[in-house]
Amino acid sequence: MRTLLSEEQIQQAVSNMACEVVETYGDKPLTIVGVLTGSVVLLADMIRKLSMPLRVGVVQASSYRGATQRGPLVINSDLMPNIANQDVLVLDDIFDTGNTLVELLALMDQLGPTSIRTAVLLRKLGQQEVDLQPDFVGFDIPNEFVVGYGLDYQDEFRNLPYVACLEPDDLRD
Ligand code: IMP
Ligand code: MG
Repeated sequence: MRTLLSEEQIQQAVSNMACEVVETYGDKPLTIVGVLTGSVVLLADMIRKLSMPLRVGVVQASSYRGATQRGPLVINSDLMPNIANQDVLVLDDIFDTGNTLVELLALMDQLGPTSIRTAVLLRKLGQQEVDLQPDFVGFDIPNEFVVGYGLDYQDEFRNLPYVACLEPDDLRD
């Protein structure tokens, strides 16, 4: 495993993203919705840097079946807060193909929010299959499988305070 982004680099990027979010929304109330499970660490760090009146909610989306192979996206919105007439910021760990956020936004759009924007810590360069781009991005990274700071491989490594690349030899599908 090779460290890609240090704890300090990540904290700086989260602070920068939080500043951009504050510039965008000002003092207006915001509903932030974290995509489980990968966004939990970013969500916890981000909300403590935001100063506007804030509601915090979560939605679950998963497309990984076991290892790195994709299955169909499954969305569980049982825990999602009421977003009607709210300004909403959806937070995810990584923007890869983009399909997760596109499908989530389509679902959330039907719930009548005032606005929806998206923020991700990482965006994988050249991997997107959708027209959408996130409104706030921490880092652009090469197309490698990464873990840590919420991101997992087979449900492990989410607790690493930094982001690391798994070498191909470490990946077992
Ligand atoms: P997308 O739908 O292809 O944009 O994928 C987004 C989801 O895939 C993220 O929320 C992650 O859970 C997962 N994912 C994509 N790339 C990685 C990676 O390199 N490491 C861990 N999870 C990843
Ligand atoms: Mg995820």
